[in-house]
Amino acid sequence: MDRMGILLAGGSGTRLAPLTTAVSKQILPIYDKPMVYYPMSSLMLAGIQEVLIISTPRDLGFFKALFGDGSSLGLKIHYAEQAKPAGIAEALLIAEPYLKGRPCCLILGDNFFYGEGLPALLRQANQSASGASIFGYRVQNPTDYGVVTFDSDGSVTSIEEKPNAPKSNYAIPGLYFYDASAPTRARELQPSARGELEITDLNRSYLSQKQLKVELLGRGIAWLDTGTPQGLLEASNFVQAIEHRQGLKISCLEEIAWRMKFIDADGVRRAAAAYKNSEYGKYLLSLEENQ
Ligand code: DAU
Repeated sequence: MDRMGILLAGGSGTRLAPLTTAVSKQILPIYDKPMVYYPMSSLMLAGIQEVLIISTPRDLGFFKALFGDGSSLGLKIHYAEQAKPAGIAEALLIAEPYLKGRPCCLILGDNFFYGEGLPALLRQANQSASGASIFGYRVQNPTDYGVVTFDSDGSVTSIEEKPNAPKSNYAIPGLYFYDASAPTRARELQPSARGELEITDLNRSYLSQKQLKVELLGRGIAWLDTGTPQGLLEASNFVQAIEHRQGLKISCLEEIAWRMKFIDADGVRRAAAAYKNSEYGKYLLSLEENQ
């Protein structure tokens, strides 16, 4: 059964205020595109064509303005509100009526992934039929994240949310592939001490039944932090440096939709017409010549 994407793009954004006083964090620019384009591109590269975007009552309209019903990208996009930031795992409860018993891939709207081999890893995770698949990425500051330890076959041995004394340097990025049991498991969770339904507790539910796998993202893959003004600037500089060097765009959604055969060349031309005054539009028009 086709896996559905859940893109969680809510939260209070207080750590970036005043940047986020009037607008959602995930709409802020990473160089030449809104932040949300980057996680959306990861879902599309995994082969996912139906996505539920969850955001705050204030911000949902921004995402609708960006993506509409998704048809210009060959996608089917739904929208749902999260009334309050009551935890990442609440996304599974909000998504349940849309999932209708299907497996899903949850991605956080501020997570940026890029690198050689990533599309293959995403496609492979999308094929997994049962249990949950998460990722591990080596970082200097594991205390800021969910942290995972694992054995030699990739079976997880422990996961902890923002531990004071981390047992490894492997952080868990905000990208989770779940089987159809995720909403039922989310319903059984209790709010944590900070009053949130924790994604780490949902993953622990899979772990307790030995149904949690971790795939390591190697050092050739970039998983960047966009949670601070410095992280935002670094991510923008990263995208600018690579795009300028190669003349190719990172996470150009129409390009990905076309390469994945979600839309045809006419679809790219139609999208380009909407952006005809921008460099992005010119790039779309040049795609066919330069493929
Ligand atoms: O980025 C990866 C990390 O994301 C993981 O390693 C952690 O295990 C996971 O808990 C999470 O940690 P954060 O500290 O980044 O969580 P934060 O509360 O900042 O939420 C992450 C994003 O999800 C943020 O852009 C806001 C959004 N969000 C968060 C909550 C709690 C929502 O849309 N709704 C929510 O209720």
